[in-house]
Amino acid sequence: MEIIIQPDSQQASQVAARIIARLVREKPHAVLGLATGNTPLQLYRNLVDLHRDSGLDFGGVTSFNLDEYIGVPPAHPSSFHSYMWAHLFSQLNMPKERINIPDGTAPDIPAACRKYEQAIRTAGGIDVQVLGLGMNGHIGFNEPSSSLSSRTRIKTLTDETRRGASAAFGGLENVPTHVITLGLGTIMDAKMCLLLAFGKKKAGAVAKMVEGPVMSMVPGSVLQMHPRAVVILDEDAASELKMAAYYNWVLEHKPAWQQY
Ligand code: GLP
Repeated sequence: MEIIIQPDSQQASQVAARIIARLVREKPHAVLGLATGNTPLQLYRNLVDLHRDSGLDFGGVTSFNLDEYIGVPPAHPSSFHSYMWAHLFSQLNMPKERINIPDGTAPDIPAACRKYEQAIRTAGGIDVQVLGLGMNGHIGFNEPSSSLSSRTRIKTLTDETRRGASAAFGGLENVPTHVITLGLGTIMDAKMCLLLAFGKKKAGAVAKMVEGPVMSMVPGSVLQMHPRAVVILDEDAASELKMAAYYNWVLEHKPAWQQY
């Protein structure tokens, strides 16, 4: 794992945007894995700015989102579909047919999950998978106890995760209990994983994910096994890391050709 600690989430998001922008410039038909939540919002604003102000071209890019709530129609204001269109897709030049988000209203969800996996393979696999981190260590909606080799499937949300989403759904009783999520094995197939985590409330989960054992109780810890996982943090999210001084030293002494 490469740990990049930045003074704040703005600068951390800039590093992430630079990584994605470089990929898109070098590989116009890049395949992006995208996440929702508060964490990637600044990254998406940066990508929109790069598209608008520097002509970063998303015309050949394909995307696959990580997850979606089951039973929530795409047009619902709290669906991840709505989130993605509001914060990113409406402001980029990605053709609609290259945008993939799991359909939580599909009549046959297991078949839809298999089709989603197949579509990722047909697209040539995910080049960069953007990830946030749940307070309980989840990535995507792979809650603790998820198989480390799981594929895209139905998951049941924990109470903690549902409580976290209750404001968006106007009360806990309205939060779906089930979701579709890319599996941990699917995420691990991405050529590069880019996990972002910001704020003190993520510090415990970050420390477990980066410096704790690899285990299904901390699903994000599987990234320790990924050949190219980059974890971009602000100082608050990094505050419980024992080896922060080492990670900073590594970053400061990176040769120019390795810098983002
Ligand atoms: C949800 C999403 C995750 C996201 C996590 C963290 O559970 N399924 O993909 O990483 O929330 O959300 P936030 O970025 O708002 O802290």
